Amino acid sequence: MTLRGTCSSCAQRHGAQRIRPLKSDMRFDTSMSRKALIAANWKMYKTPAEAKAFVDAFLPLVAGHTRDEIALFPSPVLLPTVVEAARGSNVAVGAQNIHFAEEGAFTGETSANQLTAIGGTHTLIGHSERRQYFAETDEIVNKKLHTAIKHGLVPVVCIGEVLAEREGGLTESVLKTQINGGFAGIKGLAAEVISSIVIAYEPVWAIGTGKTATPEMAADAHRIIRAEVASLLGADVAANMRILYGGSVKPDNATALIGQEEIDGALVGGASLKPDSFTGIVKY
Ligand code: PGA
Repeated sequence: MTLRGTCSSCAQRHGAQRIRPLKSDMRFDTSMSRKALIAANWKMYKTPAEAKAFVDAFLPLVAGHTRDEIALFPSPVLLPTVVEAARGSNVAVGAQNIHFAEEGAFTGETSANQLTAIGGTHTLIGHSERRQYFAETDEIVNKKLHTAIKHGLVPVVCIGEVLAEREGGLTESVLKTQINGGFAGIKGLAAEVISSIVIAYEPVWAIGTGKTATPEMAADAHRIIRAEVASLLGADVAANMRILYGGSVKPDNATALIGQEEIDGALVGGASLKPDSFTGIVKY
């Protein structure tokens, strides 16, 4: 189902009066089809036994589901277990973070090489919790993006504004700064490589708070992001690039969000921790 969100003022009618909508009537040709990616960010939850139990329960629920790509992002200690449990299935596995260096004295970090060696295929980069608690800057995000691409990983680059920025009317400039900083030096790469990059738009005020951007608010931000990607990397790349929404996505709001023409999937935290709930989102 495709819903066409057209006006930011629709946000008022969807109960998000306290969150300032963007004033954007930017439009972009999104006629090209992009396969949605539904991704689970498990954060620092689950033991290996719990992770395996999730995958064992989840795979039968999504068996044969080819409409969307599905990926799980467990914490590093769970990766081998989850890769093994999901092997041969329609569910990909990635890391929540990689270091940008090839190897070295970086205590506590995981390299792209280590991730691919155990069968990981994706990585999140620059999640707002990494930016907030681990001081990740756009420059670090950019280095990690280059490393991920070099190792053939599918990078999911997370961007988004905090509440004060939205309330201050800064959302558009924050998103543009994050894109320009995070994507520095990407323009020269092959188009198919660039198009494999995924962006996750996660308004920080909506993460783990139960406050979801209305579908129209999310779509407005996605249009700004796609337009900025177009001006930086070209219209074709922008038309092919998947832009996910993240922030309190749940089974009961997934259809309205992912159904937006501009929204190419979801990055899901809390509601991805239980097989039934995550399946409800995968099958929006
Ligand atoms: P949430 O988290 O779905 O719990 O809001 C999303 C995320 O942080 O990626």
